[in-house]
Amino acid sequence: MTVDVLKTTGDLHRLDRLRGDRPLVLVPTMGALHEGHLRLVRRGSELGPVVVSIFVNPTQFGPREDFAAYPRDLAGDLALLDPLGVEAVFAPAVSDMYGGPGEVTVQPGRRAAGLCGAGRPGHFAGVLTVVAKLFGMVRPDVAVFGRKDAQQCLVIAQMVEDLRMPVRLVDAETVREPDGLAMSSRNRYLGPVDRLRALCLQGALAAGRTAIEAGERDPAPVTALMAEALEAGGRPDYAEVRTVPELERPAVIGGRILLAVAARVGPARLIDNVVLDIDGAAVRETALLATRPAERREEGRRE
Ligand code: PAF
Repeated sequence: MTVDVLKTTGDLHRLDRLRGDRPLVLVPTMGALHEGHLRLVRRGSELGPVVVSIFVNPTQFGPREDFAAYPRDLAGDLALLDPLGVEAVFAPAVSDMYGGPGEVTVQPGRRAAGLCGAGRPGHFAGVLTVVAKLFGMVRPDVAVFGRKDAQQCLVIAQMVEDLRMPVRLVDAETVREPDGLAMSSRNRYLGPVDRLRALCLQGALAAGRTAIEAGERDPAPVTALMAEALEAGGRPDYAEVRTVPELERPAVIGGRILLAVAARVGPARLIDNVVLDIDGAAVRETALLATRPAERREEGRRE
């Protein structure tokens, strides 16, 4: 099978053949695909025909960030997607997505205030604006996002809820290298020494989780342990405990919480997280977005 590549807005009518009994699934990406993206596609394929969008969105990068250097490899991406039975790839040009003066943007709510939102002003407005455009253009019934970008998932979930967008969101689990490093297109920036240092993110999450599993319920010592582990390999941006889904700072650790870390390792800014469900002494890893009970059971079997 050869993937149908839609290059302009005018090509989008070719998606109409996919609208039928099964939900149309969109997997939004910025390309430079890796196994983590392929997991999103496989998750989407369980639900219906899949359209993958590939668009390096300029408005979510800050002026000193890596928009120009961000890896772009459409031919390589298509080769990876082809065997997965993806129905179509939407790969528009910047002028197609942002032609004209473009005065209207989507501004995030409070969930975007801390974590990556604090260090990347305007980032989530850029993400929401492009995701809203993609939803309006592709008109998917379901959209799949990676849990690695936990804050992004929750900020988008709030947009969908507040703007009453008719799309169901699904978060797919983070795919890791054998040594635990979360897969990311930005891992390509790491040389061999930085690649080893990057394990500090995974180490920081493990330190936080171990403390919670041992019974610690005060966020301060947990974040201190995480920050210390992060400093062992990178320049920490943040190490935090937040509530899910509101992303507030909890007074006491309990219920569903996010352990989130970000650090600069060599030339790359990397993020990682784990979502935990804490019920008394029981601590288990869980999904980020509310899923239907049958899917939750299925996901529990896979993890
Ligand atoms: O997660 C990403 O790759 C991007 O932020 C997204 C959702 C495709 C929007 O540009």
